[in-house]
Amino acid sequence: MNKKFKLDTNLVRGGLTRSNFNETSEAIFINSGFVYDSAEQAEAIFKGKKSGFQYTRYANPTIEMFEQRLALLDGSEACFATASGMAAVFGSMMCQLQAGDHVVSASALFGSCRYILNDILPKFGIEVTFVDGKNINEWKKNIKNNTKIFFFESPSNPCLEIIDIKQVCSIAKKNKITTIVDNIFASPVLQQPVKFGADIVIYSGTKHIDGQGRAMGGAICSTKKFKEDILKPFLRHTGPCISPFNAWILLKSLETIKIRVLAQSNNALQISKFLEKHKKIEEVYYPGLKSFSQYLLAKKQQSAGGTMIAFKIKGGKKEAFKFINKLKIFDISNNLGDAKSLITHPTTTTHKILGEEARLSLGITPNLIRLSIGLEDVNDLKEDLLYALK
Ligand SMILES: Cc1ncc(COP(=O)(O)O)c(C=O)c1O
Repeated sequence: MNKKFKLDTNLVRGGLTRSNFNETSEAIFINSGFVYDSAEQAEAIFKGKKSGFQYTRYANPTIEMFEQRLALLDGSEACFATASGMAAVFGSMMCQLQAGDHVVSASALFGSCRYILNDILPKFGIEVTFVDGKNINEWKKNIKNNTKIFFFESPSNPCLEIIDIKQVCSIAKKNKITTIVDNIFASPVLQQPVKFGADIVIYSGTKHIDGQGRAMGGAICSTKKFKEDILKPFLRHTGPCISPFNAWILLKSLETIKIRVLAQSNNALQISKFLEKHKKIEEVYYPGLKSFSQYLLAKKQQSAGGTMIAFKIKGGKKEAFKFINKLKIFDISNNLGDAKSLITHPTTTTHKILGEEARLSLGITPNLIRLSIGLEDVNDLKEDLLYALK
């Protein structure tokens, strides 16, 4: 890894290793296994006495290039790529938890994250307490002797709740608790949680990293020690590895991530300002808007408001569906962070699994709509929204 170069250079060249053929672009090592010169060499590599690739479930040259480049962007020492963002969320927890442990989590979460914490972890004897992540005292108050992890998304999916990363991480550090931050909404371009004390940062490669709707993938960023001692033994043997082909797509996508995310975020700011003024809109949630209740905190942690907007249309599910169905440019999809603008109805899709009570407690009402703003001309997007609102 090369920390001496500036970010833009590292996004194009970070982690690059060339094969004997001296290819310009990074090569895809699509192979599953590697061969050894001798049985002695195989033994030495398995013992860790010599370095060398063994098997793609363990490590692979293309995957390693992606991991190194993402770590340079995120500011973490190390990274382990996974098959999806959810594999990263689950792996980052299960690699360090055991029966009898306790986790404190913000309650405002993506449906699948909430499912892991609420439904899966308790089956393994792990207790989870959900708190209002915005309230710092709630994190403090709910620490127990056996609390091992603090987990949160900031901004959260879909209502863009912001959590004070520095304050929560500082409480965690004092109590020897590991903080895991899901940084998927902000992306590593706009926010680097390690700068604020986060121990582990989670990404979905599928979102802003690919940003072009082509590949599943995920990543766990951490210290080198955590990767070597805790993550590797768990992930190598349980097998949520990313395919080298997908890692290659994500690696090449990192070359343009900064340009894409900044342009998308700029479009999103303009669209949120436009929506805020429209008479058929009840409320807009966008961290870059001055009217957003956590604007100042967002500004402290993020370099821009991001690519995601949530808003409530006047009316209920009927009005929301009617509006969504009228759009001509925005695609109806539950993905996000894409170059194409996407629209989601969280109640019936991404957050369906939560159940009505939990959804309503988080402000996920039937008239809530989520937008992921892409790279199209912002005036075309505004016209599309205006037409559908009419
Ligand atoms: C906040 C958040 N975390 C995790 C994930 C999971 O990522 P993936 O779909 O790559 O598994 C998502 C996906 O939408 C998400 O929004």
